[in-house]
Formats: sequence, structure tokens, C-alpha cells
Amino acid sequence: MFLSTEHSQRDQTLPRDCTFRPSDWHKLAAFWHPVAFGHDVADQPVAAKLLDLNLVIYRTSSGVTVADDQCPHRGVRLSMGRIQGENLVCAMHGLHYDGQGRCTRIPSVQDSARRIPKKLCLNTYSCVERYGIIWTCLKSKAVWPLPDWPQLETSASNRHCVPTDEWQASAPRHVENFNDIAHFPWVHIDSFGGEEGGSFPPYKVKTTKYGLTFSVPYLEGFNRFPDGVEGDEREVEYTYQLTFPFSTLLLVKPVDSDYVHYFADSVCPVSSNKTKIFQVFTDSQGVKDPDFWLNDALTINNEDKALVESQQPFELPLDTRDELHIPADKMARSYRKSLVSKFGLGLSD
Ligand code: FES
Ligand SMILES: [Fe+2]
Repeated sequence: MFLSTEHSQRDQTLPRDCTFRPSDWHKLAAFWHPVAFGHDVADQPVAAKLLDLNLVIYRTSSGVTVADDQCPHRGVRLSMGRIQGENLVCAMHGLHYDGQGRCTRIPSVQDSARRIPKKLCLNTYSCVERYGIIWTCLKSKAVWPLPDWPQLETSASNRHCVPTDEWQASAPRHVENFNDIAHFPWVHIDSFGGEEGGSFPPYKVKTTKYGLTFSVPYLEGFNRFPDGVEGDEREVEYTYQLTFPFSTLLLVKPVDSDYVHYFADSVCPVSSNKTKIFQVFTDSQGVKDPDFWLNDALTINNEDKALVESQQPFELPLDTRDELHIPADKMARSYRKSLVSKFGLGLSD
């Protein structure tokens, strides 16, 4: 009911009710994670949750600010406030905070601007807006760069965002599903199709400077590509470029044309068993029919969601002796091993 009078005894580094193992939380906090689409942060503050930490995201003329969603005065959620001019204004007593998180006005104090103590400021985090997504890092120094996706560094009108969704699943379970090929002829037979229950040739996983990559051929059962090539089926090559820890760019290229569809999937680990999905796509021709591709993405996600949410344990096993592996799991095995060997995730403290 009461916090201790001993200020220094409180653990201020982990979020309250943290659902992650403490050592994993600290390691994950040092990566960039997507927290909102840029277009969703306009003239009102937006609430987000990353690694069990409640955040407020707001925009002023100096750019986007990400901070703890807690007013330093009496702890009210700042995302319940509003933007007024260049300030975020708390809904409770109206304290004003500028784009740097500094308090600039206390309305109940006359001439407050001269009397505001320096420490009256929000706890802010580094943030970057790229590919239409706002990314934040909870530690002062990121251990790994943002995904490098030049294909998505295009005009906003040529880049399309799939509405966000939350999955009751852990982020790495979603990532493995996105990079899993063996489920296509079972789960996606009604969307992009293929030979029901078909097999895959062996493939190689390569290590890159950002993560892992591999390519596989596939015969899609429908022709969904707007490149003028006739035919009911299309032979394609899928290339996956995974950036640690939770972002993947998928290149879908029909082998008989120059057309390429670029589909980026990056997920926010909201809690250890809750994941918010951010997906952005474009193509080599300027996306002539974005609604088609939007519906295509929503259908495919829907086909995957219930299955991934059913996976037990929801935590990704990082000891490769756990769970059985089939040859098509080469990517998943490399992913699990890398999370441990490169970043120490899953290791005991
Ligand atoms: S709680 Fe925010 S201004 Fe008082
Ligand atoms: Fe899938």
C-alpha cells in the first residue's frame, strides 16, 4: 500500500510487474524496438508499452519524444493529457512538458517558468523515425543498429503500413513463424497457395552484418503479381533478411520477371507473451494496388495468428535440445543459437 521511505531501496531499473527474466530485460532494452507508426502520432499523445514499460509518445516541432508514461508530479498517465502548442500538458494539474521533456509551466504557480527545478523533467528515451515507424531504445547506448532497409526508404506515398495488431505470443515466436517456410503448404494454401503438403529443397543460412539471411524457391498457387506475366501459378524466390532481434525484410520475387515485393515485419515485445506487429511494404513498381497487398497481408497474418498464439511454451526455447527440429528449421536453429551466442539471451545471470 505504501512505498518504502527509503528512496534508494526501490528497484528503479525494471518495470513494475516485469514479465521478463531480469537479465533478458536488460539485454533486450539495449535494442531499438518499434513502438508506433509515425502517422499515428500526430496532434495527441499516444500510449505504448515496450518490455512492460508504459511509454508516452508525442510530437512537437522538434520531432518525436518518447518518455515514461508517468507524470513526475503525481504519477498520472501522460498519454491521457493533450498537446498544446509545443508542450505535452498533463491532464491532472496541467504541468507542461516540452519536446525535450523539460517542465516549462506549472499553471497553479504564478510566473512558474523562473521557478521550475531542473529535475522536474520527464524520463525520456532515444527515438528515431524511419520507414514510417517510430523506434525507441530504453538504454543510453544501443547494442545493435536499426534495420537497414533502403528499399523502404522511399516516399511515404509509396510505402504502406499494415494496421497494427497484438498477438498473445512472444516476439521471437512471431519472428520464427515469419521466417518459417514449412508451414506455407499447410497454413497458407488459401492465400498464396502452393502444392498442399509440398516439400522444400535444403537451404543455407548465412550470417550477415545485421543478422541472418536465406533464400528458398516456392511455387505459389495463385498469380498475385501485377507485372503483366500471365499464368495461374508463379515460381518465386523468397529471400529473408533478419535483423536481430525481431525484424525481418522479406523479398518476394517471381523468377520470370524483375518485379520484387518488399515486406518488412518488425515486432514490439510489449510483454513476454504479448507482441505488437508493425509491417510496412512497398514494391519495385510503386505499388499500383495497395489495397490488394494490404488485404493479402491481413489474410496471411490471420492464418498464422491463432497457431502462433497456441505455441507452448510461449517463451522461445534457446537450448536447441528443446523441441524437435526438421531440416526446414535451419533458420530457426541459427536464430536461437545466435540469440544466445551473440547477445547472451536466455543465459542464467
Ligand atoms: S499529476 Fe501531472 S500535473 Fe499533477
Ligand atoms: Fe505464415
